[in-house]
This record gives sequence, structure tokens and C-alpha cells, in this order.
Amino acid sequence: QIEQPYELVLFGGLGDLALRKLFPALYLLELDKRLPEGRIIAIGRKALKLEAVIATVKKAVFSHVQSTYQEDDCWQRFADRLSYVCLDAQQPKAYQALAKNLEESCPNRLFYLATASSLYADIVSNLHINQLIQASSKVILEKPIGHDLASAKDINKSVAEYFDETQIYRIDHYLGKETVQNLMVLRFANFIFESQWNQKYIDHIQISISESLGVEKRAGFYEQVGAFRDMMQNHLLQLLCIVAMEPPAKMEPDAVRDEKVKVIKALRPIVGQDILDKVIRGQYNKGVSEGKPVPKYRDEDGVDEHSQTETFVAMKVEIENWRWAGVPFYLRTGKRLAERACEIVVQFKEIPHSIFSMQDKKTMANKLIFRLQPDEGIRLQLCEKKVGSGMKIRPMTLSLNPDDQSSDIMKSQVGSESKNKTVRVPEAYERLLFDALASNPTLFLRDDELMEAWDWVDPILAAWQESESAPESYTAGTWGPAAATLLLAKDGRLWNENN
Ligand code: BG6
Repeated sequence: QIEQPYELVLFGGLGDLALRKLFPALYLLELDKRLPEGRIIAIGRKALKLEAVIATVKKAVFSHVQSTYQEDDCWQRFADRLSYVCLDAQQPKAYQALAKNLEESCPNRLFYLATASSLYADIVSNLHINQLIQASSKVILEKPIGHDLASAKDINKSVAEYFDETQIYRIDHYLGKETVQNLMVLRFANFIFESQWNQKYIDHIQISISESLGVEKRAGFYEQVGAFRDMMQNHLLQLLCIVAMEPPAKMEPDAVRDEKVKVIKALRPIVGQDILDKVIRGQYNKGVSEGKPVPKYRDEDGVDEHSQTETFVAMKVEIENWRWAGVPFYLRTGKRLAERACEIVVQFKEIPHSIFSMQDKKTMANKLIFRLQPDEGIRLQLCEKKVGSGMKIRPMTLSLNPDDQSSDIMKSQVGSESKNKTVRVPEAYERLLFDALASNPTLFLRDDELMEAWDWVDPILAAWQESESAPESYTAGTWGPAAATLLLAKDGRLWNENN
């Protein structure tokens, strides 16, 4: 339940994230009638009339939500909630304009900081100076929070001066994806998987987020950040935690977060020679992506022609505990790769002895694949008998698809009042914005999780900073540098797309 009336104050209100993800998610919540009475106040640096802002937001929302969800009535209800305040986040006095737009007291005021994290300290301090933070106020911090451990600590300290830890929501939108929720349900609501979920039965795990997009219009941000800070330090490590954590005692915020932080603490440090052996960084060269020729990263608008920023990272990670000893986790992410996909592949060991004629026990070993995008679903690869005489074996796949569930619900609704209502898989930001407004922090990061994650990645980033070597180049539209294939080949394994 969202306490009402709420005030959602969005810093970076006309930025890339707000327009591509946050407003579309809020509009979809409106469409589902999940937003009670409340207001959304976008903050931007440009002096614009409210009508112009509303037009920009509408264009963004309607270009990101499917045409079936583009309803004029709903849009009008949504637009009525919007207001816009122009201010320079670093100028304390400028916040007076915001103060005028807010109620004197609000039971549910949520500040969403979707700006560069270097501004977070100034924003919270200026909010405080202008007495805009109340005991029930909350703040969402967008990732990446900081540039390294030291800067993340500084930001944490500044925010903690004005907000209690229970008021701070550190967002990682991958935790809001449907299949990630389903991964937890599959692991902790079924008996059959847990007994197999360990080094006795699992050979290795792959977590891969590949994007076909390049750096787009975000070069200014991306040049400072790179694939490691943008994706690896947060999204991939969070997915790793959900796959690898022990069953929490309860589905409650601290119970879940306690288990996740234990995983990060158990990660084997990657230092010295291991950084060269186990972490691969790449940068895209020109190539063909989705059928179109695309330039190399260094030729993108706003990118330094000698840039050393990595647009690809692959790494081999080990978890030092009883459950996972000896089971490598291969993580990979990159821009301008062969396709947009996000998968977690749990590769089981091959059977110890086959009584059937199987061509290759290894490729026929069981595999559980969680596909987060683009087509969400879960697939389990098993073996079955080939129909006919003889005892030939072939691989087959059992699939669980959230769309099937939606159509089941739709079928059960036919004849009821909700005949025309479609059931859709909610977007990650929809779920997380709702949770933050409803004060449920389960899917948000606690300070210790964030610090442990930075602590683990810091030596890698520091080594790259000092290193003279450049990221390995790869052709846009392929699966990344050759060294990433070699990383698995050295262990006698292949990335899943090659299987
Ligand atoms: C963001 C990164 O956190 O995640 C972007 O900053 C990336 O660079 C995006 O494109 C990917 O998210 P999704 O949900 O589209 O896979």
C-alpha cells in the first residue's frame, strides 16, 4: 500500500533515465490504477513551461510503452499529477522554488536522485538547508553510487547525515525484473531445486547481459564510468547474489539483504596476476549491428579518440564457501554485442555414467536457463528418448513462460467484468518505484552490500587505472573480444550462445 498523498520529487527529471524508464514506469502504474492521490515533481536545469515538459514526457512515454497501453484518459490523469521546477541542484537558494511547490508537510515524500552521483551530497544538503526533508521522507539513489570505494563511502556519509538507513533506497533495477523474482520463487518455493543447488551437481554458472545498443547519447556519462562500473559492479553482482545466496529465513528486507551480503563477502578477491587472467575488458570497433553499419566507440559523439573506456567486461568469479567451492561463475556484459539478451545459465554436471548411447554427455547435461530479456522465461534442458525403436536419446526443453501465465489469467477473466483487461509483465522500474513509494526496501541495496561490492571491485579498477594496456578491441555486432571466449575455453567450456 502506498501512503497518500505522496510527493515524488525527481532530480534528473528530464534526463535519459527519467524519459526512457521512470516516466513510462509511472505511467504504467497509473494505467493499472496503482497510484493513489499524489504528485510527481520533475526537477531540471532548463527553464521550461510546464506544457513543454508535459509534451516531452508524453512523447517519451508513448514511444516506450506499447500502443495497446497508450490511453488518452490515462495520460490525462497522469499529466495532471506532473509539475516541473527548474533549479540548479548545487545552489541552495534555488531550492526555494521547489519548497513553494511542495506541501508544508507530506506523509510520503520521496526524492529520486537520478543525476550523476557526484551531485548527491549537494542535493541532500540543500534539501536539508531548505527544510524539505521530513521524518517520513525517503530517498532513492540511482546507481552507480560513487566511482570507487572511497567516493561511495563519502556519498554514503553525506546522505546518512540527513536520512536514516531505513529511509535510503539504493536502486538496482535488475532486482525488479520479473524473472529475477521468479528465480527466487523457483529456488525457495520448490523442493526439487534446492537439493541440487550446489557444487555437487552444478558444473558452473554463466550470467550474461549483452546489449546491441552502443553508447547512444550518453557518452559524457559512459566515458567516466565504463562497462565495469555501469553494469558489472551492480547489475551482474546483484544477479550473482540472488543465484548464489542461502535461503533467507523470511522474505523480509534484512533477511534477504543479510544473505546477499554474505555472498559478496565470500567472493574470492581478484588481485595481482588474477586481474590479467580472470578479467577481460574490451572496446567495440566499427561493425554491423542489427543490420546497420555502426562506428567504433572512439568515433561516437562525445568520446575521446584515445579513450581507454571499456565497453565490454567478462570475468571468472569464485565464491569461497561450502555450497560453491570449485564452481566458477562466468560473468559477461557489453555494448554493441551480437544481440540484446540477459541470461543466467545454471549448467549441471554431466552424468557420471551413461547406460544409453549418447553422442556427447557434456552437451546433453542438464541446464537451467533464466532468460530475463528480451523474451522472459525459464527453460530446463533435459534428456528424453527419441520416439521409435531403439534407445536413442535427445535433448528436450521444458519452458515456463510468463506470457503463458498472463494468457491463463486472461482466459479465466473472459466472461467477467475485466474482459478487455490485458495482463502484462510489469517493468522493473514499475515494481521498484511502487515498492519505494510503499516503503518496502527488500529489493533495494543496504549500505553494507554496496560497500562490500565496491571493496571487491576496487583492486581491479585501480589496476586498470595504472595499467598502460588498452581494452582489447572487438567488432561491433559480435560476442566480444577473443579473450572472452578463451576465458572459458581454458576451462574446457563455452559461452551459452555457442552451445
Ligand atoms: C543501466 C545502464 O543501468 O542498464 C545502461 O546504465 C544499460 O547502460 C541499462 O543500457 C540496461 O538495462 P535494461 O533493463 O535495458 O537491460
